[in-house]
This record gives sequence, structure tokens and C-alpha cells, in this order.
Amino acid sequence: MLETAYLNNTFIPLTEASVPINDRGLLFADGIYEVIISRKGKPFLLDEHLARLQKSADAISLKLPVSVAEITEIIETGINKAGFSESMVYIQITRGTEPRRHNYSNEIRANLIMTFRPQPEYAPELFSQGVAILSVPEIRWSRCDIKSTALLPNVMMKQKAVDQGYHEALFVTSEGIIRECTTANIFCIKNETLITPPADQHILNGITRSFILRQATSHNLEHIERDCSFNELCQADEVFITSSTVDLIPVVKVDDITIGNGRPGPVSQAVKNFFPTR
Ligand code: PDD
Repeated sequence: MLETAYLNNTFIPLTEASVPINDRGLLFADGIYEVIISRKGKPFLLDEHLARLQKSADAISLKLPVSVAEITEIIETGINKAGFSESMVYIQITRGTEPRRHNYSNEIRANLIMTFRPQPEYAPELFSQGVAILSVPEIRWSRCDIKSTALLPNVMMKQKAVDQGYHEALFVTSEGIIRECTTANIFCIKNETLITPPADQHILNGITRSFILRQATSHNLEHIERDCSFNELCQADEVFITSSTVDLIPVVKVDDITIGNGRPGPVSQAVKNFFPTR
């Protein structure tokens, strides 16, 4: 088993991979990305991730350097080469390499980078006991639907939360509307109904979020996509956050406010059971 990178047509050991100093991903965060988990060797919700990658590319007028079908092949080969039972596949496509200048030429060709690493292990208590999250001001731009590598506000706020002993930071607008966490979407549960912010330009439309909403429909679990206030969140029966890397983690505390009875609840558990075992 070997942490592996793919860089413009070649697989190499991850420790030997490097990018050019004029890569616009490095200079301007001019790029997009996806994180996909392979469960038992098979990338989970792959088509959905690739559709979102294409959507992000279109949104920033970036022409993918290879077709989506070729990206699929590279992912499958990389997972096999790296050989981990559960891999975290990171795909980044940057605008390309050119001397630093804000605008780019018509000839520029995008760089495709992928890494294949083992999926990090999470402490079981995160899931069995739940986590605390910290509310922070929404300081991001108005196209959070694009899965852009420009993540400085997310990095700053995640670090602030972690430094204060919280698991995550939750972006809340100046009007008191909740958006999402720095690396995850958020759901509240009130009277056995799932409530999650709408997938507009203010949040990333998480693949895990959409999976849960589809599963909720087929399991007849009430769900609604609408704005939710911070006060409503604090009065929810249960809260959880979702992402490809963790599936779902229950939230039992927001700032110093306890959610429900302070323990992960039955609806969160039922939703967790929607996921195939890892
Ligand atoms: N992040 N919102 C934000 C801001 C995210 O960065 C992520 C995922 C999500 C959840 O999306 P999905 O369910 O498609 O993973 C929501 C990835 C895992 C990351 O940046 O590492």
C-alpha cells in the first residue's frame, strides 16, 4: 500500500509529487476540487461527485483537461494502485500554469492532480457521543455552491473552532440564518422532520446531503429544505452534520447551548443507518 499521486498523465508516489511554481491553483486558488471516499474499493456516489466537478468547472469557465469518463478510469486505477481498503480520493483541477497575471490566456490548459490516501480514522466517540460546534460569522463569498479550492475563510474558522475545543465552526449570517459548517452541511430535526438549508449559492450542495434527502424520501422521513435560524437550531430536538469523509456526525452542543438531551438522538441514528457499512 502506498500513498499515490496522479499528476498530468502519470502515477507517482505521493511524496515525490510537486506542482509548478506558476500553477494558478497555487498563485490564485484558481481551481476546483472533489473529495471521494472509496468503500471496499468502490468510490461511493462517484457519478454525483463527477457531475458536481463538471458543474464547478463550468461555473468558473474551466475546460476539464480530460473527459469525465477518463477521470473515472484514473480514479479506479489509482485506488487499485494505492491499495487501501478505504481510500480518500482527492481531485483538484487548476486553471493551469502561466506566469502570474490575474487574467489568463485562451491557450491555458488545466492541470489535473489527484491523491490516493487512506481514509483517516475517526474516534468512535465522535459518532457515539456527538460533537460541539462553534457559531462564527459568515465571511465567505456569494458562490459557495462552487467547490473552489479558495478555502481561506473555512480554514480560519475551522482553526478557531478547534483551538477553542470545538469540532467544527458553523457559518451564521448577520441576520441569524445558519448556512453550513466549514467542511460539512448541517441538518436540524424538529418533531421527526429533517430541516436543512436550501442548496442555493450560499452553501455547497453536499453529495452526502443530497443522498440523505433522497433516502429520506424513500424511507418516508419528513424533510424540508428551507432557511433555518440560529435560534431554531438551538431549539432543535437533534442536529447533525454531513460530509463524504464522515457521513454523519451528531451535534450535541452549539456554543454553550445543549441540543435536546445532549446525546445523539434516534432520528440521527436512523439516518446514519441509510449509509452502506464501510
Ligand atoms: N468538504 N460544505 C462544505 C463547505 C464542504 O467543504 C463539504 C465537504 C461539504 C459536504 O459535501 P460532501 O457531502 O459532498 O462531501 C459541505 C470536503 C469533504 C473537504 O473539503 O474535505
